[in-house]
Amino acid sequence: MTGAPTGRPPSPARLWGGRFEGGPAQAVRQLSYSVQFDWRLAPYDLLASKAHARVLHRAGLLDDTELERMVDALEILDAQVASGAFRPDLDDEDVHTALERGLLERLGALGGKLRAGRSRNDQVATDLRLYLRDHVRLIVLRLAELEEALVTQATAHEATTAPGFTHLQHAQPVLFAHHLLAYVAMFSRDVSRLRDWDLRAGVSPLGAGALAGSSLPVDPISTAAELGFYAAASNSMDAVSDRDFVAELLFCAALVGVHLSRLGEEVVLWSTREFGWVELDDAFSTGSSIMPQKKNPDVAELARGKAGRIIGHVAGFLATLKGLPLTYNRDLQEDKEPVFDAVDTLLLVLPAVTGMIETMRVHAERLEAEAPVGFSLATDVAEALVRNGVPFRDAHEAVGHLVVWCGANDCDLGDVSDADLARISPHLTPDIRAVLSVHGAVGARRGHGGTAPERVAEQLDAARIEVAAHRAWAGEVGDE
Ligand code: ARG
Repeated sequence: MTGAPTGRPPSPARLWGGRFEGGPAQAVRQLSYSVQFDWRLAPYDLLASKAHARVLHRAGLLDDTELERMVDALEILDAQVASGAFRPDLDDEDVHTALERGLLERLGALGGKLRAGRSRNDQVATDLRLYLRDHVRLIVLRLAELEEALVTQATAHEATTAPGFTHLQHAQPVLFAHHLLAYVAMFSRDVSRLRDWDLRAGVSPLGAGALAGSSLPVDPISTAAELGFYAAASNSMDAVSDRDFVAELLFCAALVGVHLSRLGEEVVLWSTREFGWVELDDAFSTGSSIMPQKKNPDVAELARGKAGRIIGHVAGFLATLKGLPLTYNRDLQEDKEPVFDAVDTLLLVLPAVTGMIETMRVHAERLEAEAPVGFSLATDVAEALVRNGVPFRDAHEAVGHLVVWCGANDCDLGDVSDADLARISPHLTPDIRAVLSVHGAVGARRGHGGTAPERVAEQLDAARIEVAAHRAWAGEVGDE
């Protein structure tokens, strides 16, 4: 059987033993070994190895039988990596070393032929791009699910009016759906940023070798195509030293984190007794160990809190890159932990936030009741005066006086008598009361992007189409 062990190579299976008399000091192993965190690249390393084996075969460096045995062994190894039957051991410096050991154990000397024409430098850059392109699709899928949850709540509250804030103060009434759809707009930009990232991440470094390309007739363009990349890197030195795709993805992830954090902050506020806008489902909130009455919005808080670590990764990794001369430097190994953590964090937070949004109960009656509070129709009165021919500057002033008067007399804008209106300002004619309705105020804002029901309905339709496109993109792995 092709995949059966054919003898162990000398242990430890270092990839660079030839010119060294002894192994690295214990402290060096501890500092430099990465297998404990780069093992997750194994399936991608094996994928790239298969593509590389085919290229060696086309170049006449592997015969037909050798290629077949090599591909078989790589596939068996892939299955054993997936099942956990093949694991890195303590002597394996990194994922590439461990997998070469696995190949040598299965193929003997033939396993050693795969290293021709490539280096860990182009290999690791290729593996990381493959891994991240796959996981970005997963993140986009999770974002699409969150967008769907927001769209569903928005659909349920298409007609619910709510206070809109600036400076966390009642400003103007809006439809609650409009508020929720603002988050869909943010997450939709996130998806668009990730798709755009993919165009640059989808460039293959394989074939760049250590830095200068290979004297063997390997073919970077065909391996790029086989691995689902859009193109092969045009400069081998850039190919092995470029980590822009990591820095960019960290930024994209940090911004997703910031959007989740802002949504989290709102949910924290909305679920307070003071707001009382929503009640979180039991499954998406937690209790207190001492206060039996508590129901805490921990999901929202963790979403807010976890944004901080991703933001830190962006700054940290840019600092890692900033002083590096061309081409590969071992500093680049520091790319993995932050970017893996960013990916893991989003994949952890997104489903929880989606569940929280999906299941939260919105107190529509409370939102409706709060919508006109805080003189939120004052702008409408001022605009009514403008329609009566009053310059906005004077209208603003007159309504300002009206608000002060109402504050002092503890009443609403609509409660002032004709005589008092006239006393406050001659511009304040009784007809202005016609605009003192929340539904009227909302319905009047029917310009593009406004909160009027017909505009919000259009936003909802557009959002549904976009979310379907996001899902479709996430479904295609590796090509477009
Ligand atoms: N573990 C290394 C990394 O992640 C692989 C590349 C090693 N290359 C080297 N020249 N030492 O960057």
